[in-house]
Amino acid sequence: MNPKERNIILVGFMGTGKSTVGVMLAEMLGFSFIDTDAQVVKKAGCSIPEIFAEHGEVYFRQIEHEVIAGVLQGKGQVISTGGGAVLREDNRQAMLGNGQVIALTADMDIIVERVRQDRNRPLLQGDVEERVSQLLEQRKHAYDFADLMIDTTELTVDTIVGIILAHRPHSL
Ligand code: S3P
Repeated sequence: MNPKERNIILVGFMGTGKSTVGVMLAEMLGFSFIDTDAQVVKKAGCSIPEIFAEHGEVYFRQIEHEVIAGVLQGKGQVISTGGGAVLREDNRQAMLGNGQVIALTADMDIIVERVRQDRNRPLLQGDVEERVSQLLEQRKHAYDFADLMIDTTELTVDTIVGIILAHRPHSL
């Protein structure tokens, strides 16, 4: 495969900026932008909160897995994944085998600030600080498998995109 068309897969906790960064990155590279959460919603025919409420997280993870496996067949894509997509070993292997995996991280305060008003993330309903803190602890090593890890806490979107572009293999 032409290395110029190698997928970029963005992983990271909720609120770390995967979609914002992904859209700009795709534009810079002339790649298509894929948001796996949006694909899950399309496939299931209902919203993420509805999927969780009516079918449960296990069902959501299965659809998410199928979407990821399908999307990774393509090339020339920036793929923004849901924060829990990395929890399955088969997803992690598929990502590493089909693109460059970039993990975005951010300090807890920033994450809480970004997701506080959000009603679309079932795992964060209730006491947001408490939920973010618990999940960050549970997932503290979940993103370590990535090819590159970027702490976005003090970075602008432009800078983050620049760092990712500078790390393209063969200095593309
Ligand atoms: C989830 C993250 C969400 C979405 C779902 C579950 C998670 O995606 O897939 O609510 O388990 O971290 P974002 O990371 O895009 O918010």
